[in-house]
Amino acid sequence: MTDAAAAPAADQRERPLDRPVEEVLVIDYGGQYSQLIARRLRECGVFSELLPHHTPIERIAARKPRGIVLSGGPASVYEPGAPRLERGLLELGVPVLGICYGMQLLVLELGGRVEAAEVGEFGRSELSVKDPGRLLAGMPHEQACWMSHRDTVFSAPPGFAELASSTTSPVAAFENVDQQVYGIQFHPEVVHTPYGNAILTRFLTEICGCDTAWSAASIVEEQIRRIREQVGDGKVICGLSGGVDSSVAALLVHRAIGDQLTCVFVDHGLMRKDEGEQVVRTFRDTFHVPLVAVDAEDRFLARLSGVSEPEAKRKAIGAEFIRVFEEEAEKLAGGGEGARFLVQGTLYSDVIESGGGTGAATIKSHHNVGGLPEDLSFELVEPLRALFKDEVRAVGSELGLPERLVWRQPFPGPGLAIRIVGGEATKERLDLLREADHILQDEIRAAGLYRELWQSFCVLPDVRTVGVQGDARTYGNVIVIRAVTSDDAMTADWARLPYDLLEKIASRMMGELREVNRVVLDITSKPPGTIEWE
Ligand code: XMP
Repeated sequence: MTDAAAAPAADQRERPLDRPVEEVLVIDYGGQYSQLIARRLRECGVFSELLPHHTPIERIAARKPRGIVLSGGPASVYEPGAPRLERGLLELGVPVLGICYGMQLLVLELGGRVEAAEVGEFGRSELSVKDPGRLLAGMPHEQACWMSHRDTVFSAPPGFAELASSTTSPVAAFENVDQQVYGIQFHPEVVHTPYGNAILTRFLTEICGCDTAWSAASIVEEQIRRIREQVGDGKVICGLSGGVDSSVAALLVHRAIGDQLTCVFVDHGLMRKDEGEQVVRTFRDTFHVPLVAVDAEDRFLARLSGVSEPEAKRKAIGAEFIRVFEEEAEKLAGGGEGARFLVQGTLYSDVIESGGGTGAATIKSHHNVGGLPEDLSFELVEPLRALFKDEVRAVGSELGLPERLVWRQPFPGPGLAIRIVGGEATKERLDLLREADHILQDEIRAAGLYRELWQSFCVLPDVRTVGVQGDARTYGNVIVIRAVTSDDAMTADWARLPYDLLEKIASRMMGELREVNRVVLDITSKPPGTIEWE
């Protein structure tokens, strides 16, 4: 089972995200940092969501936001086909803050002068505040800010106060308090704008009048209420993978409805060392969640016998997983009425990936492998739909989930099988890879680097090399170390692990694992490589 979720049933696609009453919406014009704006607003204590710029104004109005932020975007406002400002956004009666492209759209719409400049302004810039106005009150008159634009605002719309300029922008901030319209050319959401959070907080509190009480943990009670409302006294089933998303989702649901929930954990024998036992211990013994743990290792190994082609492996594992899950669901029903609801750990990033909060979770094809198919006849319970990954971790901690589980790195549904490269995933190879992986994790944790890495793991290629150990010739296995940093797995960089750490890992592997006589490091970023080898 993977952390990634299958797509929700059609009738749920329009279901709004579960959200608190007070929210500020970010309208996305395609900027690189649009998502980051929503995250920053949440960090400032107000729930926020990103909506595509083509969202119908009625839908936005229906949500009764406390404020609107217009994001940056890659286009010039003068480019044919560039997204335009929906005038209705200025007529909602709530404050509007335009950032970068968002600010330029305001100028285009309200009058003022925005033009392509001779030189763009990219990176660090100096902001000079000449009139702090309402937006920049209490902030230093000289401060650094971070810019990324070519079109430049030369004069604010009539009736607006020009608040600040920057190295090459004559108007870098403006406002019209009566009209409740504010604009900044720089990006407050990036860390290189030191007063960025302070500016966003002012916008939220002084201008929108929000009360900054939101936190990921604060949604626990609200979610519990909603889950109860959705499932009533129905039976609920949840596939646990050992990953943080399905674990947090399961715990939340269990808090809400207790033993109406049964979790199914399919141990396919492709997990990391001790992971299966940890899941069982945590859920059954610590949290007393009804749990069916299925030891399906033999079935999966039999199914994988003779399969070396990567896609064939994924398909075999995916199909077997579904079969086992369905069998268990049927057994649980015992000939009577089975579970009507299925818990999924769908995250907000899964939701917006598919086109901005409409609710359809289209997940990259391989993410469904090891997950459940779309056409299962369950109604989905998705208590994490409104949260980013780090917020899910906060909820997990709030619920008392052990640190080790809360901070677990992502792990693919098909498990170690897709890390045995170019060959069959046999029991012997899986055991070797599991031991090597254990050494790697052990050392990375000991070095305090585990959380910094998006993923760290070993790969076992189906090749052998010649070595010499204890005066004898060996013909052994190669272990590849793969460690990457990433924010979302779409791109990744290879992690610069310290040489001393690498040496320690390699010598432990070669000393403790008889079958290994060579250890290599993968220094490929994504692109051009992928994170996994298969
Ligand atoms: P790639 O290798 O495409 O991986 O760079 C991106 C992220 O997805 C994970 N991954 C998978 N997850 N089923 C999953 O649930 C899969 O078949 C699968 N393949 C890759 C990978 O670990 C990384 O985090």
